[in-house]
Amino acid sequence: MISSSRIITLIVASIVVTVAGCVSLETALPPPGRWVTQVLPEVDPDLPALERGRSLVIQHCGRCHAVEPIARYSLQQWRKIVPDMAAESYLNAAQTQEVLAYILTTRDALDRGGKPQADTR
Ligand code: HEC
Repeated sequence: MISSSRIITLIVASIVVTVAGCVSLETALPPPGRWVTQVLPEVDPDLPALERGRSLVIQHCGRCHAVEPIARYSLQQWRKIVPDMAAESYLNAAQTQEVLAYILTTRDALDRGGKPQADTR
C-alpha cells in the first residue's frame, strides 16, 4: 500500500516540476519601462499603451497554448505571427494595434541590448 505521505511527496514533486518548466511571466513578457525608453529614445514609446498591450497578451494569448516568450521569435517573425494570432483571439483592430506595439517594441528593445531585469520601476 502506498502511504499518504508518499502520495503527498509525489504531488508536491509534480507541482515543482510544472512550475520549473515554465518561464516566468516577467521573463516571457518583460513589463515596459525605462529599459525600453532608454534604448529607443527616438521612438519615445507610449508606456501606458504598451502596458495595455501586455495585459491583452496575458488575457488572450495563453488560452490555446502557453504564452510564447517574446525573445523566442524575431521581429520579422512577430510581424507575421501577431496579426494571425490576434485574429485567432478575436481581438478588435485597436487591441491588435496595442498587442503589436507591445510585442514589436519589446522585441526591438531586446535587440538593441535593453535589459528588462535591470529596470528599477
Ligand atoms: C484560438 C487559439 C489560439 C489563441 C487564442 C492564440 N493562439 Fe497562438 N497558436 C495557436 C495555434 C493552433 C498555433 C500553432 C499553429 C499555427 O501556427 O497556426 C499557434 C502558434 C503560435 C505561435 C508560434 C508560431 C510559429 O510560427 O511557430 C506563436 C508565437 C503564437 N501562437 C502566439 C500567440 C499570441 C501572441 C496570441 C495572442 C495574440 C495567440 N498566440 C493566441 C492557437 C492560438
